Amino acid sequence: MAYSAEVYSAASRIIEERRRLAEREANRKKSDIYARFPDILALDNQLMREMADFTMLMLREQKGLEEVLSSMEGKISEIRSEKARILTANGFDPDYLEPQYTCKKCSDIGRKNGILCSCYKEICRTEAIKELASSSGSSSCSFENFDLSYYIDNGAEDGTNPRRKMHNYYNFCINYANDFSADSPSIVMMGKTGLGKTHLSLSIAKTVVEKGFGVVYAPAQKLVSDLEHEHFSFSGSDSAIKKYTNCELLIIDDLGAEFPSQFTNAAIGNLINERLYEKRPTIISTNLTVKELTERYSERTASRIFGEYKRLLFVGEDIRFLKKR
Ligand SMILES: Nc1ncnc2c1ncn2[C@@H]1O[C@H](COP(=O)(O)OP(=O)(O)OP(=O)(O)O)[C@@H](O)[C@H]1O
Ligand SMILES: [Mg+2]
Ligand SMILES: [Zn+2]
Repeated sequence: MAYSAEVYSAASRIIEERRRLAEREANRKKSDIYARFPDILALDNQLMREMADFTMLMLREQKGLEEVLSSMEGKISEIRSEKARILTANGFDPDYLEPQYTCKKCSDIGRKNGILCSCYKEICRTEAIKELASSSGSSSCSFENFDLSYYIDNGAEDGTNPRRKMHNYYNFCINYANDFSADSPSIVMMGKTGLGKTHLSLSIAKTVVEKGFGVVYAPAQKLVSDLEHEHFSFSGSDSAIKKYTNCELLIIDDLGAEFPSQFTNAAIGNLINERLYEKRPTIISTNLTVKELTERYSERTASRIFGEYKRLLFVGEDIRFLKKR
């Protein structure tokens, strides 16, 4: 689990809000019950006094917490049962006054014994899925709606049959997504416009983020403008660089569509090299050919992409166009 800082802070806000609401509701019920059943108010006051006395005892007589707690236990449970008796006699659950936390395991704190609670992980996952949908501007691309009939089935059973070839790629991508791990390979999806590169890379992203991995999707244009902004501003922040360098899966969509400059070419080259060096998987999609890629982003970067990435050469006709017919 390595989500972006935004995901973690959104998750923390959500869990704090859950806790706040549960406690506010418990306080509201308490005031109502105190007004209707003064005996319960008296019992709670007695409980507070007992606690204060015991604290004094602990301080004055230097007794250990365990010892004091065990001598308190009888008194406390007596008061508690009396409260529960009054509540049930009046048709309430015995724990009616306790805050009703969404997660009983961690009382909506998000951690238990220093370990992240499953509820917090689940909120992070949901937030990461939302973040992916908003950064890609689409939540509709999935393996389920990837239709192979858009690729011509020319009858040949060899590698020149577009449908066959795309079917193999489709299977590869599904398996890649289902088996994704920190040491999955990187992928470069190449081919002309409208062949399904973004569609398949987003389908992978969706499955991988649902598995609980931190996925960052960025069109190359957005990626370089973030890197540029950070590099040329005086804020001293390097959070975008960190996000792109450290996420568990980075998807750079439409590499080559960004405005070229010495800075952007070098920044992208560095990012690709750094991730390969750290063995972090990256998926690149591009309209550029091998030659164009080599000319644009140094021979070193290109040779690493073509030497170490799994290469998928998309074929077929522009599906944007086919869909309009
Ligand atoms: N096999 C498919 N089945 C159904 N829809 C598809 C398929 N492939 C692509 N599409 C849809 O066609 C449109 C274009 O596909 P996509 O954006 O994936 O192409 P691309 O290869 O990334 O093109 P570009 O190089 O221009 O970025 C999208 O709306 C996508 O959802
Ligand atoms: Mg695309
Ligand atoms: Zn929990």
